[in-house]
Amino acid sequence: MMDKKELFSLLDNISRSPDPESIKKALDITDPLLLDTLYGYAYDVKLRNVGSNVYFRGIIEFSNICVKDCYYCGIRKSNTNTKRYELTEDEIITEAKWCYANKYGSLVLQSGERSDSAFTDKIERVLLKIRELSSGGLGVTLSLGEQDAGTYKRWFDAGAHRYLLRIETSNKALYEKIHPAGHSFERRLECLHALRESGYQVGTGALIGFPGQTTADLARDILFFKDIDADMIGMGPYVVHDETPMAKQAADYDPAVQLELGLKMIALTRIVLKDVNIASTTALQALSDTGRERGLKAGANIIMPNVTDLAYRTGYQLYQNKPGIDENAEEQRRNLENNIKSIGERVCYGLWGDSLHFKKRTE
Ligand code: 5AD
Repeated sequence: MMDKKELFSLLDNISRSPDPESIKKALDITDPLLLDTLYGYAYDVKLRNVGSNVYFRGIIEFSNICVKDCYYCGIRKSNTNTKRYELTEDEIITEAKWCYANKYGSLVLQSGERSDSAFTDKIERVLLKIRELSSGGLGVTLSLGEQDAGTYKRWFDAGAHRYLLRIETSNKALYEKIHPAGHSFERRLECLHALRESGYQVGTGALIGFPGQTTADLARDILFFKDIDADMIGMGPYVVHDETPMAKQAADYDPAVQLELGLKMIALTRIVLKDVNIASTTALQALSDTGRERGLKAGANIIMPNVTDLAYRTGYQLYQNKPGIDENAEEQRRNLENNIKSIGERVCYGLWGDSLHFKKRTE
């Protein structure tokens, strides 16, 4: 087994010139003392590069209607047990106003994927209204899946400036196993390039620890993030949803193992990419009450509190046991703020908190 000194030297190497074998070796660590050393090392890289400010992005999950059929996801179109919903423009704007009034620097609009014109036009109108209500003060991130380059551009011009599109896995063969025919890995890559061309700060990420994926795959995912020069990373552990085809292969999944893998991915991504924004995602919290705070201690610096009206929360179950079903935006803000203080960090209100990596690459 590796000792602490060997781990430090492995991490120094990864930090200086990352290679897949070394990252895999670090992802395979399970000894609690070595894990603490890994998280501590990543936290130090975080402090030196982006500091200890945490930025909130209020997430509005405004619809679970989806044209895609991903084998792992609870809102896939073939799941007929999910009641479909869609917020009106006014409802979305009410939530955007709440974010602005509460000094959340930015919000995220997320939904199932659609690209019909009723949808793309609605998003454009909503973006224009958000810009107006905040005099351009609210940062806007979109997480609306694959669209054509023209749509990305139109939404950018209407005021969105960041976009999250996970690659899910950078292994094409694996990508094809977890998606039905008609979902294309190449198209996903093209979309990431189109987003970049349109001027967005581009975020991507992986689904971590699903059946068939290895730590060698995950190590290559981190190098993929680096290769495409991502500005932001949003990733989380795979959590089972019973009404999906993938659930059958994941019956014996251990939440503690999933959580640990999620934290290791955050830590190693921080060590390799250094100055990007990394979200500590809700999937971590689904696996442990303190999951998101632990994500911050492993190198993440962004939290996306759910600000969706409680009436709609149960409809947006990408995976089971999604937390925060009955905690309204106000309660969540208070709880999160206290938890973040308790780990010695500070919520930074009223600022966009853009990715430093983006700033540097566009200077
Ligand atoms: N477990 C964890 N994350 C999931 N997502 C979809 N289904 C699951 C699941 N079962 C993630 C995908 C997608 C994001 C919006 O939600 O990675 O990109």
